[in-house]
Amino acid sequence: MTSSLQNDCFLRALLREPVERTPVWMMRQAGRYLPEYRRVRQQAGSFLDLCTTPELACEVTIQPLDRYPLDAAILFSDILTIPHAMGLGLTFAEGEGPRFAHPVRTAADIQRLAVPDPEGELRYVMDAVRLIRKTLAGRVPLIGFAGSPWTLACYMVEGAGSRDFAKVKGLMYDQPRLMHQLLDVLADSVAAYLNAQIAAGAQAIMLFDTWGGVLSAEDYREFSLAYAAKVRAALPKEADGRRVPTVLFTKGGGQWLEAMADSGYDALGVDWTTPLNEARARVGGKVALQGNMDPVALYASPETIRAKVKAILEQYGQGSGHVFNLGHGILPDVDPAHAGAMIAAVHEYSPAFHKA
Ligand code: CP3
Repeated sequence: MTSSLQNDCFLRALLREPVERTPVWMMRQAGRYLPEYRRVRQQAGSFLDLCTTPELACEVTIQPLDRYPLDAAILFSDILTIPHAMGLGLTFAEGEGPRFAHPVRTAADIQRLAVPDPEGELRYVMDAVRLIRKTLAGRVPLIGFAGSPWTLACYMVEGAGSRDFAKVKGLMYDQPRLMHQLLDVLADSVAAYLNAQIAAGAQAIMLFDTWGGVLSAEDYREFSLAYAAKVRAALPKEADGRRVPTVLFTKGGGQWLEAMADSGYDALGVDWTTPLNEARARVGGKVALQGNMDPVALYASPETIRAKVKAILEQYGQGSGHVFNLGHGILPDVDPAHAGAMIAAVHEYSPAFHKA
Protein backbone atom coordinates (compact mmCIF):
# COMPACT_ATOMS: atom_id res chain seq x y z
CA MET A 1 0.00 0.00 0.00
CA THR A 2 3.07 2.27 -0.12
CA SER A 3 2.15 5.02 -2.54
CA SER A 4 3.64 8.46 -2.23
CA LEU A 5 1.31 11.30 -1.43
CA GLN A 6 1.23 14.24 -3.82
CA ASN A 7 -0.22 16.50 -1.12
CA ASP A 8 0.52 15.71 2.52
CA CYS A 9 0.10 19.19 4.04
CA PHE A 10 -2.93 17.98 6.05
CA LEU A 11 -0.86 15.23 7.72
CA ARG A 12 2.04 17.62 8.36
CA ALA A 13 -0.19 20.28 9.92
CA LEU A 14 -1.74 17.69 12.26
CA LEU A 15 1.77 16.88 13.48
CA ARG A 16 2.69 20.59 13.71
CA GLU A 17 5.37 20.19 11.04
CA PRO A 18 6.06 23.12 8.66
CA VAL A 19 3.62 23.66 5.78
CA GLU A 20 3.46 26.21 2.96
CA ARG A 21 -0.20 27.00 3.59
CA THR A 22 -3.00 25.99 5.95
CA PRO A 23 -4.71 22.78 4.79
CA VAL A 24 -8.50 22.75 4.52
CA TRP A 25 -11.32 20.20 4.42
CA MET A 26 -14.95 20.30 5.58
CA MET A 27 -16.81 18.05 7.98
CA ARG A 28 -19.60 16.37 5.92
CA GLN A 29 -17.92 17.55 2.74
CA ALA A 30 -19.63 14.74 0.83
CA GLY A 31 -23.33 15.32 1.30
CA ARG A 32 -26.65 16.77 0.34
CA TYR A 33 -25.48 20.34 -0.41
CA LEU A 34 -23.82 18.88 -3.56
CA PRO A 35 -26.18 18.21 -6.51
CA GLU A 36 -23.83 15.42 -7.69
CA TYR A 37 -24.28 13.72 -4.27
CA ARG A 38 -28.06 14.01 -4.42
CA ARG A 39 -28.01 12.35 -7.85
CA VAL A 40 -26.02 9.31 -6.67
CA ARG A 41 -28.06 9.13 -3.45
CA GLN A 42 -31.30 9.02 -5.46
CA GLN A 43 -30.00 6.20 -7.65
CA ALA A 44 -28.76 4.25 -4.61
CA GLY A 45 -32.11 4.34 -2.83
CA SER A 46 -31.31 4.89 0.83
CA PHE A 47 -28.39 6.51 2.61
CA LEU A 48 -27.48 3.10 4.06
CA ASP A 49 -27.38 1.60 0.56
CA LEU A 50 -24.82 4.28 -0.30
CA CYS A 51 -22.73 3.40 2.75
CA THR A 52 -22.86 -0.36 2.13
CA THR A 53 -21.96 -0.22 -1.58
CA PRO A 54 -18.20 0.46 -1.75
CA GLU A 55 -18.29 1.72 -5.38
CA LEU A 56 -20.91 4.34 -4.49
CA ALA A 57 -19.26 5.27 -1.18
CA CYS A 58 -16.04 5.76 -3.13
CA GLU A 59 -17.73 7.87 -5.79
CA VAL A 60 -19.29 10.31 -3.30
CA THR A 61 -16.08 10.47 -1.24
CA ILE A 62 -14.26 11.79 -4.31
CA GLN A 63 -17.00 14.21 -5.45
CA PRO A 64 -16.01 17.19 -3.27
CA LEU A 65 -12.34 16.73 -4.28
CA ASP A 66 -13.25 17.04 -7.94
CA ARG A 67 -15.08 20.27 -7.23
CA TYR A 68 -12.74 21.98 -4.72
CA PRO A 69 -8.99 22.05 -3.95
CA LEU A 70 -9.37 20.18 -0.62
CA ASP A 71 -6.41 18.73 1.27
CA ALA A 72 -8.04 15.56 2.60
CA ALA A 73 -10.72 13.04 1.69
CA ILE A 74 -12.95 11.57 4.40
CA LEU A 75 -14.40 8.09 4.07
CA PHE A 76 -18.08 8.27 3.21
CA SER A 77 -19.84 6.28 5.91
CA ASP A 78 -21.51 6.96 9.26
CA ILE A 79 -20.67 6.66 12.93
CA LEU A 80 -23.71 4.40 13.41
CA THR A 81 -22.30 1.49 11.35
CA ILE A 82 -21.03 -0.09 14.60
CA PRO A 83 -24.38 -0.23 16.45
CA HIS A 84 -25.95 -1.32 13.15
CA ALA A 85 -23.47 -4.22 13.01
CA MET A 86 -24.32 -5.03 16.65
CA GLY A 87 -27.86 -5.78 15.49
CA LEU A 88 -29.73 -2.67 16.69
CA GLY A 89 -31.62 -2.28 13.40
CA LEU A 90 -30.64 1.13 12.04
CA THR A 91 -32.89 3.08 9.68
CA PHE A 92 -32.76 6.67 8.45
CA ALA A 93 -36.28 7.96 7.96
CA GLU A 94 -36.41 10.79 5.41
CA GLY A 95 -35.95 14.11 7.17
CA GLU A 96 -35.95 12.51 10.63
CA GLY A 97 -32.42 11.30 11.23
CA PRO A 98 -31.31 7.92 12.55
CA ARG A 99 -33.53 5.49 14.45
CA PHE A 100 -32.83 2.10 16.07
CA ALA A 101 -35.50 -0.62 16.10
CA HIS A 102 -33.83 -2.23 19.15
CA PRO A 103 -32.42 0.41 21.50
CA VAL A 104 -30.25 -0.64 24.44
CA ARG A 105 -31.97 -0.07 27.78
CA THR A 106 -31.41 -2.97 30.22
CA ALA A 107 -28.52 -4.97 31.65
CA ALA A 108 -29.56 -7.88 29.43
CA ASP A 109 -29.48 -5.62 26.34
CA ILE A 110 -25.93 -4.55 27.22
CA GLN A 111 -24.68 -8.05 28.04
CA ARG A 112 -25.89 -9.23 24.65
CA LEU A 113 -23.64 -6.78 22.76
CA ALA A 114 -20.52 -8.20 21.09
CA VAL A 115 -17.62 -6.49 19.32
CA PRO A 116 -18.38 -6.64 15.57
CA ASP A 117 -15.72 -8.13 13.27
CA PRO A 118 -14.45 -5.24 11.12
CA GLU A 119 -13.70 -7.62 8.25
CA GLY A 120 -17.00 -9.48 8.82
CA GLU A 121 -20.19 -7.48 9.36
CA LEU A 122 -18.30 -4.25 8.66
CA ARG A 123 -16.32 -5.50 5.68
CA TYR A 124 -18.19 -3.09 3.38
CA VAL A 125 -16.50 -0.19 5.22
CA MET A 126 -13.02 -1.70 4.83
CA ASP A 127 -13.73 -2.46 1.16
CA ALA A 128 -14.70 1.19 0.69
CA VAL A 129 -11.45 2.34 2.37
CA ARG A 130 -9.38 0.05 0.09
CA LEU A 131 -11.21 1.21 -3.03
CA ILE A 132 -10.98 4.91 -2.11
CA ARG A 133 -7.23 4.63 -1.46
CA LYS A 134 -6.75 2.98 -4.83
CA THR A 135 -8.88 5.58 -6.60
CA LEU A 136 -7.22 8.53 -4.85
CA ALA A 137 -3.83 7.23 -6.01
CA GLY A 138 -2.01 9.57 -3.62
CA ARG A 139 -3.89 12.77 -4.49
CA VAL A 140 -4.61 13.61 -0.83
CA PRO A 141 -4.67 11.56 2.39
CA LEU A 142 -7.78 9.60 3.40
CA ILE A 143 -9.34 10.19 6.83
CA GLY A 144 -10.98 7.23 8.56
CA PHE A 145 -13.36 7.87 11.43
CA ALA A 146 -15.67 6.56 14.12
CA GLY A 147 -18.01 7.93 16.74
CA SER A 148 -16.75 8.17 20.31
CA PRO A 149 -18.00 5.45 22.66
CA TRP A 150 -20.07 8.06 24.57
CA THR A 151 -21.68 9.46 21.40
CA LEU A 152 -22.51 5.96 20.14
CA ALA A 153 -24.01 5.14 23.55
CA CYS A 154 -26.21 8.26 23.25
CA TYR A 155 -27.80 7.01 20.01
CA MET A 156 -27.99 3.38 21.18
CA VAL A 157 -29.76 4.15 24.47
CA GLU A 158 -31.98 6.96 23.20
CA GLY A 159 -32.80 4.94 20.08
CA ALA A 160 -32.63 8.15 18.01
CA GLY A 161 -31.42 11.73 18.30
CA SER A 162 -32.47 13.53 21.45
CA ARG A 163 -33.00 16.99 22.87
CA ASP A 164 -32.18 16.32 26.54
CA PHE A 165 -30.52 12.85 26.52
CA ALA A 166 -32.74 11.87 29.43
CA LYS A 167 -32.49 8.11 28.83
CA VAL A 168 -28.73 7.83 28.34
CA LYS A 169 -27.89 10.30 31.12
CA GLY A 170 -30.52 8.67 33.31
CA LEU A 171 -28.74 5.32 32.85
CA MET A 172 -25.38 6.97 33.58
CA TYR A 173 -26.59 8.54 36.85
CA ASP A 174 -28.72 5.61 37.98
CA GLN A 175 -26.50 2.67 36.96
CA PRO A 176 -22.97 3.96 36.32
CA ARG A 177 -21.51 0.42 36.34
CA LEU A 178 -23.83 -0.66 33.58
CA MET A 179 -22.93 2.48 31.64
CA HIS A 180 -19.24 1.65 31.99
CA GLN A 181 -19.94 -1.86 30.75
CA LEU A 182 -21.63 -0.43 27.65
CA LEU A 183 -18.79 2.06 27.06
CA ASP A 184 -16.21 -0.73 27.44
CA VAL A 185 -17.68 -2.88 24.69
CA LEU A 186 -18.01 0.25 22.53
CA ALA A 187 -14.40 1.29 23.12
CA ASP A 188 -13.24 -2.22 22.11
CA SER A 189 -15.48 -2.09 19.04
CA VAL A 190 -14.31 1.38 17.97
CA ALA A 191 -10.66 0.42 18.50
CA ALA A 192 -11.00 -2.75 16.39
CA TYR A 193 -12.90 -0.81 13.72
CA LEU A 194 -10.33 2.01 13.49
CA ASN A 195 -7.41 -0.42 13.53
CA ALA A 196 -8.98 -2.21 10.58
CA GLN A 197 -9.54 1.11 8.76
CA ILE A 198 -5.84 1.93 9.22
CA ALA A 199 -4.86 -1.55 8.00
CA ALA A 200 -7.12 -1.01 4.98
CA GLY A 201 -5.43 2.31 4.19
CA ALA A 202 -6.81 5.19 6.31
CA GLN A 203 -3.96 7.70 6.77
CA ALA A 204 -5.45 9.82 9.57
CA ILE A 205 -8.21 9.14 12.09
CA MET A 206 -10.94 11.36 13.49
CA LEU A 207 -13.08 10.49 16.51
CA PHE A 208 -16.43 12.30 16.54
CA ASP A 209 -17.62 13.01 20.07
CA THR A 210 -20.68 14.94 19.00
CA TRP A 211 -22.44 14.69 22.37
CA GLY A 212 -19.60 14.89 24.91
CA GLY A 213 -20.55 18.52 25.45
CA VAL A 214 -23.87 17.63 27.12
CA LEU A 215 -22.03 16.25 30.18
CA SER A 216 -20.78 17.92 33.36
CA ALA A 217 -17.02 18.39 33.61
CA GLU A 218 -16.51 15.33 35.87
CA ASP A 219 -18.83 13.15 33.84
CA TYR A 220 -17.14 14.24 30.61
CA ARG A 221 -13.84 12.92 31.92
CA GLU A 222 -15.29 9.72 33.33
CA PHE A 223 -17.77 8.74 30.61
CA SER A 224 -16.47 10.35 27.43
CA LEU A 225 -12.82 11.38 27.50
CA ALA A 226 -11.56 8.27 29.34
CA TYR A 227 -12.99 6.05 26.59
CA ALA A 228 -11.73 8.29 23.78
CA ALA A 229 -8.27 7.96 25.38
CA LYS A 230 -8.68 4.18 25.61
CA VAL A 231 -9.46 4.05 21.88
CA ARG A 232 -6.41 6.20 21.08
CA ALA A 233 -4.13 4.00 23.14
CA ALA A 234 -5.24 0.96 21.12
CA LEU A 235 -4.26 2.48 17.74
CA PRO A 236 -0.89 2.00 16.04
CA LYS A 237 1.41 5.02 16.03
CA GLU A 238 2.50 4.30 12.47
CA ALA A 239 1.35 2.54 9.34
CA ASP A 240 3.46 2.12 6.22
CA GLY A 241 6.34 3.83 8.02
CA ARG A 242 4.41 7.02 8.63
CA ARG A 243 2.64 8.33 11.73
CA VAL A 244 -1.16 8.08 11.53
CA PRO A 245 -2.33 11.34 13.13
CA THR A 246 -5.49 11.31 15.22
CA VAL A 247 -8.03 14.08 15.82
CA LEU A 248 -10.47 14.21 18.74
CA PHE A 249 -13.52 16.42 18.24
CA THR A 250 -15.84 17.04 21.17
CA LYS A 251 -18.60 19.40 20.07
CA GLY A 252 -18.99 21.94 22.88
CA GLY A 253 -15.75 20.70 24.44
CA GLY A 254 -13.94 24.05 24.40
CA GLN A 255 -13.96 24.26 28.18
CA TRP A 256 -12.00 21.00 28.51
CA LEU A 257 -9.21 21.50 25.95
CA GLU A 258 -6.40 21.06 28.50
CA ALA A 259 -7.70 17.62 29.52
CA MET A 260 -8.36 16.68 25.89
CA ALA A 261 -4.79 17.68 24.96
CA ASP A 262 -3.52 15.07 27.45
CA SER A 263 -5.59 12.22 26.03
CA GLY A 264 -3.06 11.06 23.43
CA TYR A 265 -4.55 12.61 20.28
CA ASP A 266 -2.36 14.65 17.92
CA ALA A 267 -5.00 17.28 17.25
CA LEU A 268 -8.27 18.60 18.66
CA GLY A 269 -11.32 19.69 16.70
CA VAL A 270 -12.63 23.02 17.97
CA ASP A 271 -16.08 24.45 17.35
CA TRP A 272 -16.79 28.17 16.79
CA THR A 273 -17.56 28.94 20.43
CA THR A 274 -13.84 28.87 21.38
CA PRO A 275 -11.49 31.39 19.73
CA LEU A 276 -8.45 29.65 18.21
CA ASN A 277 -5.93 32.00 19.86
CA GLU A 278 -7.35 31.11 23.26
CA ALA A 279 -7.43 27.40 22.39
CA ARG A 280 -3.84 27.55 21.14
CA ALA A 281 -2.60 29.26 24.28
CA ARG A 282 -4.37 26.73 26.48
CA VAL A 283 -3.10 23.57 24.78
CA GLY A 284 0.44 24.89 25.03
CA GLY A 285 1.94 23.45 21.85
CA LYS A 286 0.89 19.90 22.78
CA VAL A 287 -1.56 19.35 19.93
CA ALA A 288 -2.66 20.82 16.61
CA LEU A 289 -6.09 22.44 16.22
CA GLN A 290 -8.76 21.86 13.57
CA GLY A 291 -11.57 24.32 12.97
CA ASN A 292 -13.49 26.48 13.55
CA MET A 293 -15.81 28.43 11.26
CA ASP A 294 -19.49 28.34 12.18
CA PRO A 295 -21.15 26.29 9.39
CA VAL A 296 -24.04 28.78 9.44
CA ALA A 297 -21.61 31.52 8.33
CA LEU A 298 -21.70 29.85 4.87
CA TYR A 299 -25.15 31.39 4.41
CA ALA A 300 -23.48 34.84 4.34
CA SER A 301 -22.20 36.47 1.15
CA PRO A 302 -18.88 35.28 -0.33
CA GLU A 303 -17.30 38.61 0.74
CA THR A 304 -18.33 38.03 4.35
CA ILE A 305 -17.12 34.43 4.15
CA ARG A 306 -13.71 35.60 2.91
CA ALA A 307 -13.44 38.09 5.77
CA LYS A 308 -14.39 35.36 8.27
CA VAL A 309 -11.71 33.02 6.88
CA LYS A 310 -9.10 35.76 7.20
CA ALA A 311 -10.15 36.50 10.77
CA ILE A 312 -9.89 32.80 11.75
CA LEU A 313 -6.43 32.45 10.17
CA GLU A 314 -5.32 35.60 12.01
CA GLN A 315 -6.76 34.31 15.24
CA TYR A 316 -4.71 31.11 15.02
CA GLY A 317 -1.69 33.19 14.00
CA GLN A 318 1.71 32.33 12.55
CA GLY A 319 3.03 28.81 12.14
CA SER A 320 1.88 25.26 11.60
CA GLY A 321 -0.56 23.24 13.67
CA HIS A 322 -3.81 24.53 12.20
CA VAL A 323 -6.15 22.65 9.86
CA PHE A 324 -8.90 24.90 8.58
CA ASN A 325 -12.39 23.38 8.88
CA LEU A 326 -15.92 24.18 9.89
CA GLY A 327 -16.78 23.86 13.58
CA HIS A 328 -19.40 21.20 12.69
CA GLY A 329 -20.82 19.59 9.54
CA ILE A 330 -21.78 21.67 6.51
CA LEU A 331 -25.56 22.17 6.31
CA PRO A 332 -27.56 20.53 3.48
CA ASP A 333 -28.90 23.75 1.93
CA VAL A 334 -25.63 25.67 1.68
CA ASP A 335 -24.78 27.05 -1.77
CA PRO A 336 -21.78 25.02 -3.03
CA ALA A 337 -20.28 28.27 -4.38
CA HIS A 338 -20.12 29.60 -0.83
CA ALA A 339 -18.16 26.55 0.33
CA GLY A 340 -15.90 27.18 -2.66
CA ALA A 341 -15.38 30.80 -1.56
CA MET A 342 -14.29 29.62 1.88
CA ILE A 343 -11.80 27.10 0.48
CA ALA A 344 -10.38 29.58 -2.05
CA ALA A 345 -9.91 32.17 0.70
CA VAL A 346 -7.90 29.67 2.79
CA HIS A 347 -5.64 29.10 -0.23
CA GLU A 348 -5.29 32.84 -0.85
CA TYR A 349 -4.73 34.14 2.68
CA SER A 350 -2.97 31.33 4.51
CA PRO A 351 0.54 31.30 2.90
CA ALA A 352 1.26 34.58 4.74
CA PHE A 353 0.98 32.69 8.05
CA HIS A 354 3.70 30.18 7.10
CA LYS A 355 6.56 32.46 6.04
CA ALA A 356 8.83 32.65 9.08
O1 CP3 B 1 -17.88 14.09 6.62
C1 CP3 B 1 -18.16 13.39 5.63
O2 CP3 B 1 -18.36 13.85 4.49
C2 CP3 B 1 -18.13 11.88 5.80
C3 CP3 B 1 -19.39 11.28 6.03
C4 CP3 B 1 -20.09 11.35 7.39
C5 CP3 B 1 -21.48 11.19 7.50
N1 CP3 B 1 -21.80 11.13 8.82
C6 CP3 B 1 -22.40 11.06 6.36
C7 CP3 B 1 -23.84 11.31 6.56
C8 CP3 B 1 -19.58 11.47 8.67
C9 CP3 B 1 -18.15 11.72 9.13
C10 CP3 B 1 -20.68 11.32 9.57
C11 CP3 B 1 -20.53 11.33 11.03
C12 CP3 B 1 -21.75 11.36 11.88
N2 CP3 B 1 -22.93 10.71 11.68
C13 CP3 B 1 -21.83 12.05 13.11
C14 CP3 B 1 -20.70 12.80 13.77
C15 CP3 B 1 -20.48 14.15 13.18
C16 CP3 B 1 -21.56 15.14 13.51
O3 CP3 B 1 -22.24 15.58 12.57
O4 CP3 B 1 -21.69 15.48 14.69
C17 CP3 B 1 -23.12 11.83 13.62
C18 CP3 B 1 -23.67 12.38 14.92
C19 CP3 B 1 -23.80 10.97 12.72
C20 CP3 B 1 -25.16 10.40 12.85
C21 CP3 B 1 -26.04 10.83 11.76
N3 CP3 B 1 -25.95 10.43 10.45
C22 CP3 B 1 -27.14 11.71 11.86
C23 CP3 B 1 -27.60 12.40 13.14
C24 CP3 B 1 -27.70 11.82 10.58
C25 CP3 B 1 -28.96 12.53 10.21
C26 CP3 B 1 -28.79 14.00 10.20
C27 CP3 B 1 -28.70 14.48 8.80
O5 CP3 B 1 -27.79 15.26 8.52
O6 CP3 B 1 -29.59 14.09 8.03
C28 CP3 B 1 -26.91 11.05 9.70
C29 CP3 B 1 -27.09 10.89 8.24
C30 CP3 B 1 -25.95 11.24 7.37
N4 CP3 B 1 -24.64 10.89 7.60
C31 CP3 B 1 -26.00 11.93 6.12
C32 CP3 B 1 -24.70 11.96 5.61
C33 CP3 B 1 -24.24 12.52 4.30
C34 CP3 B 1 -27.28 12.43 5.45
C35 CP3 B 1 -27.95 11.25 4.85
C36 CP3 B 1 -28.66 11.51 3.56
O7 CP3 B 1 -28.03 11.57 2.48
O8 CP3 B 1 -29.90 11.57 3.62
